[in-house]
Amino acid sequence: MKYVFGNWKMYLNVENSIALAKQLANFKFDISKVAVSVFPNQLVAREVREVLSENISCGAQNVSAVPMGAYTGATSAELFKEIAFGYALIGHSERRHIFGESNEVIRKKIESCIDSGIIPVLCIGETKEERDNGIKEDVLKEQLSKALENLKNAGEVIIAYEPVWAIGTGDACDPKDAEETHKFIKQECLKYTQSELPVFYGGSVEAENMLSYLTSDTVDGVLVGSASTKFDSFSQMIKEAETI
Ligand code: PGA
Repeated sequence: MKYVFGNWKMYLNVENSIALAKQLANFKFDISKVAVSVFPNQLVAREVREVLSENISCGAQNVSAVPMGAYTGATSAELFKEIAFGYALIGHSERRHIFGESNEVIRKKIESCIDSGIIPVLCIGETKEERDNGIKEDVLKEQLSKALENLKNAGEVIIAYEPVWAIGTGDACDPKDAEETHKFIKQECLKYTQSELPVFYGGSVEAENMLSYLTSDTVDGVLVGSASTKFDSFSQMIKEAETI
């Protein structure tokens, strides 16, 4: 099984989000070969879930670390679970670097997902500077240990390797490099779990380069940003994933 996940971020307005969901709802693919999930903006979360067919699952772009209570502006994993969402992106680089989320906050969000029955997609990745300074592996190690050490049900987590410098830049990671890094990540995760965790690649994935990642044994899926907001490119990626 390969995974094709689409993070819509804040790219689409309400009307275009629903229109894209409708197109995807009518799109046929082999669910025994590809698992597809979309991460709509939370304002349209419920409507997108209702419009989509059962073949496509939904995920939250962000969740709060606590389930309920006096937290103005927050939306919990518990609430997303109530509207039949199955996943949540945790620690996306935009959350880490624009919104200042620390490894500690990310850990709490992962726990909250697991408690609510939502599968966390933990995003990790190094900045350009960290890569240039040769500390990529140290950064990934630290992000993983803070997130997974002594975590109950750590085996439920999905990892997305998203080098910060590759996100939204068109400067995708070299596929061989991604493959090696995934190998490292899988090995690291085995310190905290009994079985291998799925690892996705994200960062400037498009219909044109997707197969160069997804055909690798160590790449279980792709997390696609801007190219997932266009029906033509996203549907092409699903079709191509089916051929592996
Ligand atoms: P991108 O984003 O595909 O637009 O680079 C990926 C992501 O942020 O998950």
